Amino acid sequence: MASRTVAKDIITLRGSAAIVSEFFGYAANSILYNRGVYPEESFEKVKKYGLPMLLTHDEGLKSFISNLNAQLSEWLEAGKLQRVVLVIMSKATNEVLERWNFSIETDSEVVEKGYRSPSLFVALGVFDVLAYTDKDVAVPFTWIESDPKLIANPQMVKLHSFDTKIHKVDTLVSYKNDEWDEQ
Ligand SMILES: *[C@@H]1O[C@H](CO)[C@@H](O)[C@H](O)[C@H]1NC(C)=O
Repeated sequence: MASRTVAKDIITLRGSAAIVSEFFGYAANSILYNRGVYPEESFEKVKKYGLPMLLTHDEGLKSFISNLNAQLSEWLEAGKLQRVVLVIMSKATNEVLERWNFSIETDSEVVEKGYRSPSLFVALGVFDVLAYTDKDVAVPFTWIESDPKLIANPQMVKLHSFDTKIHKVDTLVSYKNDEWDEQ
């Protein structure tokens, strides 16, 4: 009996981790599309979550996102991922223009530490992913410690939260303020 319950929980946890990491993949695709970081024609429209979503067919970006999904799934399954931050920087100045702060609620003990994935240098900007995990997780050598890449006095927008019952994701977007200056 007990072992059956455990097996069911493991499957559910794995399913939840897959859903949440996939959600970050779609979020990265939309952000890169909306910011014009990759050309419009390198995306195709698919239906997901009952919505039209854009998915890249750029090979470099596809493999970056699939590696990211695999790593985030592993940390989510271990209940050790607290936050994922997607950052868009100016290529010219390296200044952070947009910061998507996805916080993840699980019931694990939280000890924060920030890691940054390898940067993806692209034509019109630079894209980074920061993952905040428990201190005791194994981190691949390609991920390096990073500052939080905050935006000073940002414009902030909070989006609807998303919940699988195991992982709850809250989204807070910060934008560099002067982009919103009145003309
Ligand atoms: C990111 O989100 C978390 C949880 O909502 C919040 O505590 C934190 O202050 C946010 N960070 C920034 C820089 O907005």
